[in-house]
Amino acid sequence: MIQKLKGTYDVYGDISKKHDYVKKLFQAVCESYNYSYIETPLIERSELYHRGVGETTDIVTKETYDFVDRGNRKNTIRPEATAGVARAIIEDKLYNILPLKLWYIGSMFRYERPQKGRYRELRQMGIESYGSNDPIMDAEVISLGVNFLKELGLRDVKVVLNSIGSMQTREKYKKALINHFKSDIDNFCDDCKNRLDKNPLRILDCKIDCNNKLVKNAPSILDYLNEEEKDHFDKVKKYLDSLDIDYEVDDTLVRGLDYYTNTVFEYVTKTNEFGSIGGGGRYNDLLKSLDGPDIPAIGFAFGLDRIISEIESNEIKLNLNDELDCYILTISENENGYALNLAQKLRMCGYKIDLDLSNKNMKSKFKEADRYKAKQIIIIGEEEASSNELTIRDNLTKEERKVAIDDIIDYFDVNL
Ligand code: HAM
Repeated sequence: MIQKLKGTYDVYGDISKKHDYVKKLFQAVCESYNYSYIETPLIERSELYHRGVGETTDIVTKETYDFVDRGNRKNTIRPEATAGVARAIIEDKLYNILPLKLWYIGSMFRYERPQKGRYRELRQMGIESYGSNDPIMDAEVISLGVNFLKELGLRDVKVVLNSIGSMQTREKYKKALINHFKSDIDNFCDDCKNRLDKNPLRILDCKIDCNNKLVKNAPSILDYLNEEEKDHFDKVKKYLDSLDIDYEVDDTLVRGLDYYTNTVFEYVTKTNEFGSIGGGGRYNDLLKSLDGPDIPAIGFAFGLDRIISEIESNEIKLNLNDELDCYILTISENENGYALNLAQKLRMCGYKIDLDLSNKNMKSKFKEADRYKAKQIIIIGEEEASSNELTIRDNLTKEERKVAIDDIIDYFDVNL
């Protein structure tokens, strides 16, 4: 038997209803902030991620799904969406009209070690906002995520916040970190040994060495920010305070992608079962680094799979709206044509309808109605079909009454 790949899963049944609910809510929240939808291809030139996400990141060095196509070009299945959106903005000159506020949903692929909350096909829902370097935009972007989580009913979530300054600030900070770690680097994991010269900031969020004393006493990036960067960060915090957003500054938060500048943040649950449920930050230099214009930007992405796990472990009841308005039953095959037409008419009026055309006995037909959570059941026999007076059973109270076919919509208006 052919089985699904490790780190992937099929979405159907109850899980698909939950996915659908969460996606629709995310779309509604994005639209309430005036974001519009963007969809970029699942495959891009590998170079996009090398230059965009960063040569030394775990994502690019260890996790991309790369392949050479039949034209001998190196392609990558997207590990994240920010770089692809940036490519589209440059290629189609979408930057001609700013601000540009975009949202997306889709699968990303990372060759990670699969475990709870960590998949190889991961689904992200995110936003990218281009054209403003105002700290108000940082606060607005962060607040969109917070509002979404609140509407979902996930209350035990906080925002972890940091500023990693500009590239120049980071160069100075990297030197300080190299000095700090180099004498004792032999006691670190192999990944951190490699990170020391290439990307020492990543030592700060190494899962293996996180309890090392040197990591705990490392110099703070916040002491290396220049006046402008400090001022930006202070204003972001002030705006978050004014929006009553629960955040905590963590100067070891560096994020795993190289394009960030200044504000970075993650959404974490207080139980913190599997790391962040979302993360993002400013990336003012990304467009420039991909040969585009110099336009500031900020965004984030939520992990849909992790959000679903959080909903499940917090036993949050979603209003899935998965009931059927009406289930139509026929007593014999002779009424099936009548039922088909009735179902058609009611669906055209916006009702969610299903009908049973099987030869099963009435008991199992009623059972089916329950399985579909039907609110009303219409029962059609020979007499009903000839008189156009239908029997309708309220599936909650089990009360039955006769309703003329022309009055069904009025009946539904009152009883649904
Ligand atoms: P990221 O932190 O790599 O950022 O991913 C964002 C979210 O995707 C994470 O917080 C997590 O919830 C989810 N995620 C990541 N990897 C996995 C995985 N293997 N399995 C399940 N969920 C996962 C980005 O991707 C940036 N593009 C976000 C961004 C948008 N920054 C600016 N704009």
